[in-house]
Amino acid sequence: MSARLTALITGASAGLGEEFARQLAAMGCNLILVARRGERLQLNAARLQEQFQGIDVLCIEADLRRTEAPEQVYTAVRERGWQVDYLVNNAGASGPDFFGDQAWSDHLAYLRLMQTSVAELCHCFIPAMVGRGFGRVINVSSALGRIALANNCHYGPTKTYVIALSEALGLSVKNHGVHVTALCPGLTHTDFHATAGLDDLKQSTPSFIWYSAETVVREGLRAVEKGRLVCVSGRFYRWLDPLLQSVWTRWMFLRAG
Ligand SMILES: NC(=O)c1ccc[n+]([C@@H]2O[C@H](COP(=O)([O-])OP(=O)(O)OC[C@H]3O[C@@H](n4cnc5c(N)ncnc54)[C@H](OP(=O)(O)O)[C@@H]3O)[C@@H](O)[C@H]2O)c1
Repeated sequence: MSARLTALITGASAGLGEEFARQLAAMGCNLILVARRGERLQLNAARLQEQFQGIDVLCIEADLRRTEAPEQVYTAVRERGWQVDYLVNNAGASGPDFFGDQAWSDHLAYLRLMQTSVAELCHCFIPAMVGRGFGRVINVSSALGRIALANNCHYGPTKTYVIALSEALGLSVKNHGVHVTALCPGLTHTDFHATAGLDDLKQSTPSFIWYSAETVVREGLRAVEKGRLVCVSGRFYRWLDPLLQSVWTRWMFLRAG
């Protein structure tokens, strides 16, 4: 394997993860692509290796709702003797209805995808980054992690956790050459809403509050390089965020939400 930096990206079969893979490959990184749909990972890998000659790509099929998945990813990486310099915890989906009729095991599986797997992959890979004195970690959160909304009892709170975890980790390792950033996108053009059965949202909301995956990923990579703990991406959401956080205005959003 060549002496390039290596980026591990979860949820690399579509959307933001696919774009992270493209931009990191363009920076010259080797890639470790993780998701459930192995065929899509292989297709993305082939396309990127054709476009960015000389990069190595490892595809790992894993369902991060499963307890053992992060450990299996870690083992697969170690067995091949690869190290991880960029960790992008991006995999995610909309969750089960908190008051719906799904079994609690479905809720737990969702919490593993959105929270536990993020923490465990950080736990697996950050210590070696600290040892080498270099690492970049992006945990993909959401603008919805910045404010509570009714009927959003799982998705928003899991993203709030990701922000809190990233801030605590970032503060812990910043003096060791390792930067950790929680990336908070707003509405972004990916497969996310179609998968969640929310296609209508694009028609019912103004186009200026939607951003491209290219913009979100570019801003996230720039933020982690600068050592920012939290990056709210998109001009509109950066304007909105201080209003969501301020004690003077937050109550209005909570009342409306
Ligand atoms: N799009 C938005 O408006 C938006 C806004 C804020 C935050 N986000 C966040 O951005 C991240 C990426 O979402 P996206 O918008 O790019 O959506 P997307 O196009 O639907 O992609 C989601 C990715 O996550 C992977 N994934 C889902 N469940 C998984 C599982 N159980 N195990 C492993 N991988 C899994 C999917 O791969 P497989 O299906 O192949 O497993 C896919 O690669 C998510 O964390 C999401 O919450 C999105």
